[in-house]
Amino acid sequence: MKFFIDTANLAQIKEANDLGILDGVTTNPSLMAKEGIKGEEAVLKHYVDICNIVDGDVSAEVISTDYAGMIAEGEKLAALHKNIVVKIPMIKDGIKAIKYFTSKGIKTNCTLIFSAGQAILAAKAGATYISPFVGRLDDISFDGMELIAQIAHIYQVQGYESQILAASIRNPIHIIKSAEVGAHVITSPLSSILALLKHPLTDSGLAQFLADHAKSNN
Ligand code: E4P
Repeated sequence: MKFFIDTANLAQIKEANDLGILDGVTTNPSLMAKEGIKGEEAVLKHYVDICNIVDGDVSAEVISTDYAGMIAEGEKLAALHKNIVVKIPMIKDGIKAIKYFTSKGIKTNCTLIFSAGQAILAAKAGATYISPFVGRLDDISFDGMELIAQIAHIYQVQGYESQILAASIRNPIHIIKSAEVGAHVITSPLSSILALLKHPLTDSGLAQFLADHAKSNN
C-alpha cells in the first residue's frame, strides 16, 4: 500500500519524505488556503515546490466545475511537472474530463467519492486514483471503511484498474484497516502516519535495554 501525505504544508511534507516511506502528496483547495497560498501564480508555484520535495504523484485539484474549465485548468496543472496528477471532483463534467485526460495519458484522481456507484463510474472513465472519503462518512454515521472494502471487492471482481486511495483519514486505525481491506493507497495527515510508530511496550522495552546496557558498561 502506498503512503501519500494529505497536506500542502511544505515542512510536514519534508518531514514525511525524510522518513523514506512517502510515495506522494494530495492537496485540495482547503489545504492550500490553510497554508495561506492565494492567487493562481502562487498556487502553481506551490505545486512545483511540492514536486521538488517528493519524487511521487502529487494531486493538484481543479477549481472549475464545467468540462471546458476543468480541461484548461488540468492541462495547465499537468504541464507543471511530470508527477502532477489532476484531481477532479466526482460530478458529471468531471467524469467527462477524466475520460479526456485518460485518453491523453494524463493521470487523474477522482475526488469526493462517497458511494460504490461513484467509484464504478470513475473507474469506467479510467481514473488513475479514486478517493473515497473515509472520515467524512464516519462523521455522519456511515462506516467509511465498509465503503473501501466494497469498492475493493467490486474492482477485483470487475478487473478495474483504478487505484483506491483511501482519503479523509483521521487516525492510525483508518490506515491499518485500509491496508486490511485492500486500499492501494492511503492519504493521511502526518500525525496519523507518525502515530503508527507508537507502542508503549516499544518505549518501555527500549528504555530497559538502554538502562541494562548502561549498567553493564559502567
Ligand atoms: C483527499 O484527497 C482530501 O484532500 C482529504 O483527504 C480530505 O480530508 P478531510 O475530510 O480531513 O478534509
